[in-house]
Amino acid sequence: MPTKLRRALSAAAVLLAGAVLVPGAAAPQASGTQPFIVGGQEASIADHPYAVYLVDSRGNQFCGGVLVAADAALTAAHCALAVRPAELGVVAGRQHKRGTDGVEVGVRRVWTSPDYQDPTSGHDIAVLNLDDYVPYRPAHVARPEDRALYAAGTRATVLGWGRTSDGGPKAQSLRSAQVPLTSDATCAEAYRSYDPRTMVCAGFPEGGVDACQGDSGGPLMVGDVLVGIVSWGEGCAAPGKPGVYTRVANYTDDVSRHVRR
Ligand code: ARG
Repeated sequence: MPTKLRRALSAAAVLLAGAVLVPGAAAPQASGTQPFIVGGQEASIADHPYAVYLVDSRGNQFCGGVLVAADAALTAAHCALAVRPAELGVVAGRQHKRGTDGVEVGVRRVWTSPDYQDPTSGHDIAVLNLDDYVPYRPAHVARPEDRALYAAGTRATVLGWGRTSDGGPKAQSLRSAQVPLTSDATCAEAYRSYDPRTMVCAGFPEGGVDACQGDSGGPLMVGDVLVGIVSWGEGCAAPGKPGVYTRVANYTDDVSRHVRR
C-alpha cells in the first residue's frame, strides 16, 4: 500500500475511533448502558409512571410533562402555550410512541405562570388539568423546605422522548439520563440570564449528558421528588453549557392551588 494512502487510512481510523469514543468518555455513567450524545439510556415507563408526553392535534409528540396528581400534569409554560388547549393531548403510561398501551387524554384547563415571558427569563411552568383521571403514580412536587435536594452535586434523573443529539432525531421511546445539579455560581457563569430563584441547572462540566429539544416540560427527578422541569439550554450536552430547568420548589403553592381545580 502506498505510504500516502496508508497515512490517510490510519488518520481516518483515528477520526472514527474518536467519533465513537468521545461521547462515551464525556458521558460518565453506570456500566452496561448505551452512551449516546446526550448520554442517556432507554428507560422503563413502569419505573417512571409519572412521565408523560404532549401531542398536538396530529398526534406528534412535541414536549414532555409529569403527572403530579391523577388528573393533573406539569409541563413548561413554553410547551403549554405552543398549541391551543383544545388541540393538546397528554399521553400517559406509554413508553414507545408507536405503542397503544397507556392512555391519551385531553386538557380541560391550562394555567401558566403569570410571570412567564420566555424560557430564558424564567417562570417556565404550567399546570394542565386533565379531562380524566389516569391510573399512573404521580411524582411528588418539591417544596421550599426541600432545599437539600438542590445541593450542588446531587444526582438527578432527567426523562424524555426528545432528541438523542443536538439537531438529531427524536427518540421513539422513553429515555433517561443522570446529571448532577450544578451550583448557582456555575450556572451563572454559563448563562447571563440565569436566575437562581426560578431556575436550576444540571450537567457535567465536560458536557456529554443532557436533555435536548423535545424534552422540554419533562421531569428532573431526585429520587421520587420532582425538582425541575426541562426548560432551556445552549445546544445540548455541550461542555460548560448545562441544561436549565424550572426550579419547581419555587412554585409549590401555585402548583397545589391549580392542581385542585
Ligand atoms: N427548549 C427545549 C425544548 O423545547 C429543551 C431544551 C433543553 N436543552 C438542554 N440543553 N437541556 O424541548
